[in-house]
Amino acid sequence: MPLETYQYMSNVWKDGIFDNKVVFCTGGAGTICSAQVRAMVHLGANACIIGRNVEKTENMAKDIATARKGAKVLGLGAVDVRKPEALAAAAEKCAKELGGIDFVIAGAAGNFLAPMDQISPNALKSVMDIDVLGSYNTVKATLPYLVESAAKHKTDGKTPPPNGTGGRIIFVSATLHYVGTPLQSHVSIAKAGVDAMAVSVAIEQGPKGITSNVIAPGPIADTEGVARLSRSDSRENSAKAIPSGRFGTVKEIADATIYLFSDTGNYVNGEVLVVDGGQWHTSAIG
Ligand code: HXC
Repeated sequence: MPLETYQYMSNVWKDGIFDNKVVFCTGGAGTICSAQVRAMVHLGANACIIGRNVEKTENMAKDIATARKGAKVLGLGAVDVRKPEALAAAAEKCAKELGGIDFVIAGAAGNFLAPMDQISPNALKSVMDIDVLGSYNTVKATLPYLVESAAKHKTDGKTPPPNGTGGRIIFVSATLHYVGTPLQSHVSIAKAGVDAMAVSVAIEQGPKGITSNVIAPGPIADTEGVARLSRSDSRENSAKAIPSGRFGTVKEIADATIYLFSDTGNYVNGEVLVVDGGQWHTSAIG
């Protein structure tokens, strides 16, 4: 094969690119995050998923483990991301049982539809605590392991790191706050904070080999987010209004995850990858 062709070939979606790596994911029993983790496991990683509901989290862990023969997936339920000590214990257990933490997905989120004048201070605080404080707690609990992981593939500073290099974080955010979305003030405020956090992590931790990025999904079919935020009888029309003409799939969020976590994402840091079929641009117009 000519060298120039080889140089531009992508290594993503190849079996084994995440062999012996570990992904730690909050909100991992949810539809979007479980698909992200499943893709990583399929490509070689072991995983630890964190959730509040014990049964749901443990069952999802078992289900994800079927993605690859020999995969190890821990499901740690009863862990609330609002409690730093619970997250620290979960990260420690993950590292002890699986050998470290190389990739982190901060995906736990809270949401409901409500106008601002009907959101109590405690309601806003609940969403801020889950989304912003929870993501912050996740970063704090896992950062030492991520730094250790990134250091394993430290290059001469000029050469890009090889495929599967750890020390990477993805925050799962949203596009709601780009334009102002009715009944979503609380989540918009929180997700703006999450986006800002990803940039802060990128610039402070980048020199240690860490990458920190955001995936901002649009409406993704068959997810809790869509079920909570839209009426079933209006979904067909909502989908038609999206430039791509349909809701997204969880696989499309998984693809974005693999892009950022594999060597295709080596030089992407502090960015938001919007995966929404162009939806938010139309919100900006309409
Ligand atoms: C107004 C509400 C409310 C509602 C709850 N509250 N639901 N206020 N309208 N529909 C208020 C309560 O009255 C209470 O305030 C405060 O919020 C806390 O409620 P609790 O039920 O005690 O809190 P908690 O059990 O911690 O639940 C947190 C939660 C809940 C965020 C409210 O919805 C939750 O646990 N969600 C997690 C799962 C989830 O939302 N997943 C969807 C993610 S989808 P008072 O003042 O009465 O004490 C997603 C998509 C993003 O994020 C965007 C996609 C496009």
